[in-house]
Amino acid sequence: MKRRSFVHYCAATAALGAPSLFAATDLMPRHYARVPLVDEAGRPVRAGSLRRGENYIFHYPFEGTPCFLLDLGKPTVRKVALKTEGGSGYLWPGGVGPKRSIVGYSAICTHRMTYPTRQISFISYRDQSTATKISRPHAIHCCSEHSEYDPASGARVLGGPAPQPLCAILLEYDRAADTLYAFGTLGAEIFHAFFAKFEFKLALDYGAGEARRPVAGRAVVTRLSSFCKQQVRC
Ligand code: FES
Repeated sequence: MKRRSFVHYCAATAALGAPSLFAATDLMPRHYARVPLVDEAGRPVRAGSLRRGENYIFHYPFEGTPCFLLDLGKPTVRKVALKTEGGSGYLWPGGVGPKRSIVGYSAICTHRMTYPTRQISFISYRDQSTATKISRPHAIHCCSEHSEYDPASGARVLGGPAPQPLCAILLEYDRAADTLYAFGTLGAEIFHAFFAKFEFKLALDYGAGEARRPVAGRAVVTRLSSFCKQQVRC
């Protein structure tokens, strides 16, 4: 891990009162390129410009792995102890931004890897309960088999068959510029299984081999409503 991001993570967890980073967690952050989050015109995304409850999509740490960027509108829980399906523990440090309300997660459901495509999305954040009442408010809900995750608590599983939390995307907030960077992941990565399962579809959507290309330089943030034609709301 590069020193800057490692120090950032340590500082974040220390500030949260974690007694010992290494004693408390089995799983450490994985470092990828530190990239600014930018809009479709290439301008830095300002934390203050994010709409509360809106689903934003960016791709990280690979060009074909979609993630949610969410402003939950209020401070998240801090220092959340989580476990992967394999039993590894880790400490999610909490949201970032002026209110510590901004979070990033892989948008690949940990059950059967449903994910948002350009054509359709079965998984999204719901600020409010839907008319069917199937999904609870303030949760990320996957309509495939109704797994639900709590984005205010490290995307821990609230219900459904998901065996583990969504993989967290580690974000850094530049307070002076009000901008955001992605610099790594924390939690169970399922990217290689994802690439294997959807190889053909990913090649069609991103070009042969492009989905596996590490993100570098910037990560473009788009509203889910612009990114995909149809959102399934269950
Ligand atoms: S793939 Fe999301 S609940 Fe099954």
